[in-house]
Amino acid sequence: MSLRPILIFPDPILRQKAKKITIFDDSLTELISDMAATMYDAPGIGLAAPQIGESIQLIVVDVSKEEDEQKFTVMINPEITEREGSQVDEEGCLSVLDLTASVKRSQKVTVHYQDTSGAAHTFTTEDRFAVVMQHEIDHLHGILFLDHLSTLKRALYKKKIKKQLAAKKG
Ligand code: NI
Repeated sequence: MSLRPILIFPDPILRQKAKKITIFDDSLTELISDMAATMYDAPGIGLAAPQIGESIQLIVVDVSKEEDEQKFTVMINPEITEREGSQVDEEGCLSVLDLTASVKRSQKVTVHYQDTSGAAHTFTTEDRFAVVMQHEIDHLHGILFLDHLSTLKRALYKKKIKKQLAAKKG
């Protein structure tokens, strides 16, 4: 198990469409424990494989209710099959520095996914956890929460990042 560096916007890997996983082997298990360790170290409540440079359809999400308990779920090839209602909640992202913003999402989602042995599962959730699911699954499609903001907010953020990058270079 090792910590992996988290890619930061505007890294192009974050914009790729992640590949489906078809091989469920030991190297996948190893990657998953790296992802969990990296998520808890950050700390975060969800991490998608592209965020550590692996453009494959894999997410880990922390589902624990108690603060000191670490219990995570692994979702392979997750896909949202049903959506219901809407909610607005504050989001941030380990790959998008210095920004939190309100994002409109579905209130309730049903997700089809595979576990580490390849077995299929269906899972329905709502409220905050539904937000986490939508946010992490977006990552597998090259979508960041930034993309859900108004054009103005997004443009301001991109400008700020550009300036920071220019300052680093100069
Ligand atoms: Ni994120």
